[in-house]
Amino acid sequence: MKIIKAKDYEDMSRKAANIISAQVILKPDCVLGLATGSTPIGAYKQLAAWYKKGDVDFAEVSTYNLDEYRGLSHDDPQSYHYFMRENFFDHINIDLNNTHVPDGSNPDAAAACSEYDKIVAAAGYPDLQLLGIGNNGHIGFNEPDDHFSKGTHCVDLTESTIQANSRLFDSIDDVPRQAYTMGTQTIMYARMILVVANGEAKAQAVHDMCYGPVTPKCPASILQLHTNCVVVADEAALSLC
Ligand code: GLP
Repeated sequence: MKIIKAKDYEDMSRKAANIISAQVILKPDCVLGLATGSTPIGAYKQLAAWYKKGDVDFAEVSTYNLDEYRGLSHDDPQSYHYFMRENFFDHINIDLNNTHVPDGSNPDAAAACSEYDKIVAAAGYPDLQLLGIGNNGHIGFNEPDDHFSKGTHCVDLTESTIQANSRLFDSIDDVPRQAYTMGTQTIMYARMILVVANGEAKAQAVHDMCYGPVTPKCPASILQLHTNCVVVADEAALSLC
């Protein structure tokens, strides 16, 4: 694991965007694994600004998102489909047909998950997988558990995740209780992993990810075993490291 200390959120976002844009410049038809949550928004903004200036071109890029709430349609403003368009895809020249998010509107969890696994495998897995980290060490929606997950599957969100994500909903009762998420094994297939984290609330999770035991109790800890994993985090998120 390579740990890069950023001064603050802006600096973290710029550094992460630099790494992603280098990937796109080196391989214009690369496969990017993308993440939602508030942490990567600054990197998406920076990439969109560089696209506008003509510095980076997404015409041939394809993307696969980590997860989606179960039961939300693509145009639901709380869905991750919607989030990706609003925060990134609508501001760059990506072909929307080349963007993929698990289909939360499909109530058949087994079908939705196996369909997603097939398309991610057919794409050859991401060249670069961007990840945020939950306060409890989750990646995607792979929550603390007694085993690491494999492919895309349906998860029951933990109370702490429902609580943490409720800030983006009108009320906690509106937060879906389940999600479809890429599995840990699939995440590990990416050729490079880039984790972004900021703020004190993430300090324990970042410490456990980087220096704790490799255990499914902290799903992000498995990233210690990836041969090309870069963590870009601000001083507050690294304060326990
Ligand atoms: C959600 C997402 C994760 C994300 C996490 C942290 O649970 N499924 O992919 O990493 O939130 O979100 P934030 O970046 O808003 O702290």
